[in-house]
Order: sequence, then structure tokens, then C-alpha cells
Amino acid sequence: MDKVKEALHIGGHHHEPQEPTPDQVAQLKEKYTSAGQSQVLTFFDSLSAADKTGLFQQLSKFDPTYINTIAAKALSPPPKKDDDGGKPKEDVLEPLPESVTASILDSKPEDIEKWYSSGLDLIAQNKVAVVLMAGGQGTRLGSSAPKGCYNIGLPSGKSLFEIQAQRIVKVQRLAAKKLEAEAEDDGPKTPIAKPKVAVPWYVMTSGPTRGPTEDYFKQNNYFGLNPDNVIIFEQGVLPCISNDGKIILESKSKVAVAPDGNGGIYNALVESKVLDDMKKRGIEHIHAYCVDNCLVKVADPVFLGFAASLDVDIATKVVRKRNASESVGLILCKNGRPDVVEYSEIDQATAEAIDPKQPGVLKFRAANIVNHYYSFRFLESIPQWAKDLPHHVARKKIPYTDLETGETVKPAKPNGIKLEQFVFDVFPMLEMSKFACMEVRREDEFSPLKNAPGTGEDDPDTSRHDIMAQGKRWIRAAGATVVSEELESGIEVSPLMSYAGEGLEKFTGHTIRAPAIIERE
Ligand code: UD1
Repeated sequence: MDKVKEALHIGGHHHEPQEPTPDQVAQLKEKYTSAGQSQVLTFFDSLSAADKTGLFQQLSKFDPTYINTIAAKALSPPPKKDDDGGKPKEDVLEPLPESVTASILDSKPEDIEKWYSSGLDLIAQNKVAVVLMAGGQGTRLGSSAPKGCYNIGLPSGKSLFEIQAQRIVKVQRLAAKKLEAEAEDDGPKTPIAKPKVAVPWYVMTSGPTRGPTEDYFKQNNYFGLNPDNVIIFEQGVLPCISNDGKIILESKSKVAVAPDGNGGIYNALVESKVLDDMKKRGIEHIHAYCVDNCLVKVADPVFLGFAASLDVDIATKVVRKRNASESVGLILCKNGRPDVVEYSEIDQATAEAIDPKQPGVLKFRAANIVNHYYSFRFLESIPQWAKDLPHHVARKKIPYTDLETGETVKPAKPNGIKLEQFVFDVFPMLEMSKFACMEVRREDEFSPLKNAPGTGEDDPDTSRHDIMAQGKRWIRAAGATVVSEELESGIEVSPLMSYAGEGLEKFTGHTIRAPAIIERE
């Protein structure tokens, strides 16, 4: 385990940073001054030696000219001109063509079965890895702990991380079972070695979430996963910028920084040597997803089998958008390429457009649930383009240090921006033929935890409710009767018991009183 971590440069040796020499300081000052960002050094000369070193270290990690460039681009994207330089060219937005979409709602059962079976085979061959994006700060939820640690109030008390980990345990077992069953069918009954199926789980954290995430996994024994196959890595940060383009000082000795968005995943996969590790393991297919979705089918064999059978480089899952104002990105076709229009950037007309063929139905309704499939060959091309991914602007209230007084000020209005890359901004790099989209059932696959308790939408209560309601549907489908005193109570089926509703036959004919937990095989 530690060996792997060392090899990945993600381990915990922290060397005491060296105090910079006067020459080094002069060079740094020159770099920031010529970029018009000398304000970050306003208090440098009055700092203690340790603080000087700290600030020097922090500033050395950034190239202020690059920061200026990306901030300027993000704040004023170049207007699109048509060929003769005339009026700005409008983007052409259309729903994705049917040729690249499939829906679980109306696919033939034999197709779904085929995808499932081939996806499970890929898992059994140890060609599948999972990447979790868990570097967000969960500001809307109002908790400073990593979102994955959040307890959504299930009878079992399981956190999001635990639920997701157990789904990986289960899918490994299902794949191993399939292998064993096939080996038995094939040949003479000589005992075979138990297959070792491993789905490595790469967990992306950020400065604020890394430590607590590592501790949480350790304290919980990696939820039954082999620690060698749980690799926690860290995404990058970028300085926060004031509305007039200046890097913000959070304190006299520290620049305000924020994680560089979930699109920071691409740089991080390279810099943390995750790609090297995947290559060593022979990974060919990757499922990437967000931590906040309690219904996520981690390493979903159906999705993997679907994408791999089409030989695409990226595939994505969508659900039907709830209504025009739901805070979800829309997967669509922009100027002939696959793309996402994010909810924070969409115009009202596009959000509210109605499908000409189906009155009352939104024209753009393919809601992004951030479940992405990548071919490994595609991820290997990251170094060629990661720097060119655009940065988006999030306007925030960023505490800053008054440069005259040195006092910290908490602004009442947004005073600056965070620069973020978006994970889906790679989509338009692909030809439509290398992209696919699968529509899935919201009630089975998407219930994100975004908001604080009591909000009534995408909050801990809706997360818990959706898991318990799904369990109840599964148990009923298996032929059991569910009785409950309260209208809303459901059944929590442990992922160790069932990944997606399978394997519950032993409850046929039983009566179960809800709420209940069904814990193990
Ligand atoms: C995201 C999607 C949106 C989608 C919605 C569905 C993006 C840019 N937007 O929006 O299209 O409809 O989810 O729930 O993908 N994260 C990091 N590092 C960061 C920032 C975020 O790892 O620097 C992770 C978070 O931990 C989380 C995920 O990315 O797992 C999504 O972040 P969040 O800010 O909640 O996304 P939304 O704005 O809800």
C-alpha cells in the first residue's frame, strides 16, 4: 500500500520547506511585479521567517502570467465572429442525434442483458477502474466535512462513501461469480483458484478534503476493499481573483485559493501518476462519477458494456430533466459536436424551449448526471490538451486582506471569482461517432445531495427517501409483500446484498415490515 503511494507520489512525507534565499525572493518579486500582481507581496518583508517561506512556497507554484491569461479569457471570452468578421455567430444547439443515444427505458431486454454481461466480463478481466470526483467543498450543503462522509440518515447510518465502496465490493463479487460459474460450465471439476477481481477506485480530493477523506477511509478499513486498490489523490488549486483581475490575499501570508473545478481531474490524473498506475494494471475502461449521488451505480456493468461495445471514447448517462429550472447541465449537440450547456450559463430561451414533436416536453431535457465512461486510450491523450480546457467563472464572496490595514474583511457581496474547469468540456473534442449517451431512470440512478437538510429538494432527506424507495421496489419485484405503518417508509437494501435489485429471490413470498434494513447475503 505505502509502496504504491510512494510510487504515485501521493504519500505523506512532508519535508520541511527550505527558507528561500534573497535571490529567489527577488526573482519571485520580479515575476509577480511584471505580471501586475505585486500586491501579493505587500506584507512579505514584515512576515516571520516561517510565514515568508510559506508564502514563497505558495506563490512559487503559480505562474502569474498564466493566471492573468486564463482569468482574462474566462472574464471576457472572445466574441464569435462569422467568416467575414460581421455580427457574432450564434451557436447552433440541437438535442443529440438519435444515432448516439440509447435509453434503458425502451431498450430491448436482450440488449441490456448483453451489455450487462459484457460489462461484467470486462470487470472480471480487471480492465475496469473507477474515478470518483470528491474535491468539491459542498458549500450549498453547509458542511465543511467531505461530502462523501455525510450521513444521510439511513437506518444503517452508512455514508455516501460507504454505500459507493460497497457497490464496488459487490460488483467485484458478481464478476468473480460469473467467472467461476463459466469455469465450472466449461470443464472438468478440478478445483480452480478463486479469481481475484479488482476494480481500482481512484478518489480525487482537494486541499480541503484530502486529509479528512484519507482519515475516514483508514478509520473504516476501506469499507472492505483492498487498500491497495483505493488510491486517494489530490487535484490542483488556483488563486481567487478580484473583480479587477488581481490575485486575492486571504491573509498577509497566504493567497486565497480554491480547487480548480471538477475538470481539474484531467491534470490531476497525469500529475498524480494515476494514469501510469492504470496503465500498469492494464485498465482499458473507466467510470467517473460525482460523490454526491447516493444512487450512483459505481462501475455499472450495463453502462461499461454499452460504451465498450460501441468503441466510443466517452459516454455519459442522462436522466430526463425535472423542469426548466432544475440545476443540471444539459447534454446536447453544439455546432455538430457533443457538448454540455451548464445550468449556470444557460439562457432562459434554451432552458424553456419546447420539443416541437412533443408538446409540453422540454426540447433540451437530457440532464447531465456526471456519470462518464472513458476509454483509457482517450485519457492517455490528456497531456496534449489539458492546458487548453477553458476556465469558467464562479462569482463568490471571498474573504480578503485589506492591503492598507492588513485586516481580514468578509465581503457582503461577491467581490471576486473562482476559476474552474468543467469535466465535460472535453466532450466537444470528440467527433459525434466517438461519443454515446445512455438515458437511465432517475429513480434508479440519480439523487444528488446538494442542499442543506430541510430544503425539500436534493437534500439528505430526499437522498435517504430515494434509497429506501428503491429497496422497497426491489423487494416487491422479488415477490415479497411490504407492509408499513407510515406511508413513506421504505427498505434499505445493502449494496452487499444486491447491486441493482438482483439476488433477492429468497424474499419471495415473505412479508416485510418497513422501514427495514436488509443487510447481507
Ligand atoms: C454538476 C455538473 C452538472 C450536473 C450536476 C448533477 C459539472 C461542472 N456540473 O453540477 O452539469 O448536472 O452536477 O448533479 O460537472 N468537484 C471536484 N472538484 C472541484 C469541484 C467539484 O471534485 O473543484 C466535484 C464535487 O465533489 C462533486 C462534483 O464535482 O462530486 C460536482 O460538483 P458540484 O459543484 O456539486 O456540481 P454541480 O454544480 O451540482
